[in-house]
Amino acid sequence: MSTPVNRLRPRRSCLAVPGSNPRFLEKAQGLPADQVFLDLEDACAPLAKEGARHTIVDVLNNGDWNGKTRVVRVNDWTTHWTYRDVVTVVEGAGPNLDCIMLPKVQDATQVKALDLLLTQIEKTMGFEVGRIGIEAQIENAKGLVNVDEIAAASDRLETIIFGPADFMASINMKSLVVGEQPPGYPADAYHYILMRILMAARQHDLQAIDGPYLQIKNVEGYREVAGRSAALGFDGKWVLHPGQVEAANEIYSPSQDDYDHAELILDAYAFHTSEAGGRKGSAMLGDEMIDEASRKMALVVAGKGRAAGMTRTSKFEAPEA
Ligand code: GLV
Ligand code: MG
Repeated sequence: MSTPVNRLRPRRSCLAVPGSNPRFLEKAQGLPADQVFLDLEDACAPLAKEGARHTIVDVLNNGDWNGKTRVVRVNDWTTHWTYRDVVTVVEGAGPNLDCIMLPKVQDATQVKALDLLLTQIEKTMGFEVGRIGIEAQIENAKGLVNVDEIAAASDRLETIIFGPADFMASINMKSLVVGEQPPGYPADAYHYILMRILMAARQHDLQAIDGPYLQIKNVEGYREVAGRSAALGFDGKWVLHPGQVEAANEIYSPSQDDYDHAELILDAYAFHTSEAGGRKGSAMLGDEMIDEASRKMALVVAGKGRAAGMTRTSKFEAPEA
């Protein structure tokens, strides 16, 4: 299988759009989200699914997605819809599609099954084999317990996504407010789940994506919840409403100060380790000591900033000899 080329796209804001709603499908094209996913699963009623497959093919082929990552969420393998979702959408719009999102993934075989199906369609249709990626949603206890094998299941995997609504139902969490803390527990009820997903994702160089926040009018609440997963290291979060897009793009990008600082560390480290800089393994940048580990941390922040199109506002000056 050839290596997919689209692993490092920014996905700060992942916009959910019901695949059966032409008005939303039109409007989504103009929003500044990094990714859009057209939904055939829970935001699409059973009676509308067949029609929505064709609507999605049409908007993928004829819409103007402005460079966004284009994803379709199919139904999960426990339903009878999955194979037709995949066959219709990928045969109809494969070259205009970046990833398939697979919800409620429970073990590695479910990812492998999707990988095999995609490979057959790509070969049959003459599409590049392996280009279409997979996004795996973790939405129940079994999926979380098996998240390491899921993250290792296919070269096509690009993201592991937390699905809080289904997950809360799966573990009987005592709350109906998706994304907010359940009353009665004095700590962060999602910490273990988010860290578990993040570790599995990072182990396999995948992006970790936080799921929806359903109180769409409460942008402050969204910011607070997004800020928590961003602080841990998550790459982005779902957005369900235009008001959430700007918040996600900001929260999952580095601040200007952090971006400038990261670029300075990279320049300073490159200079000090060079012949001209004295071949030093550690050196001072202002009052801060930097070494190889600092470079690795700076690379992450600088990489996110560059991917978000940020520009530097400061410049490294080599110290006088
Ligand atoms: C998303 O699919 C969720 O269940 O939260
Ligand atoms: Mg779900």
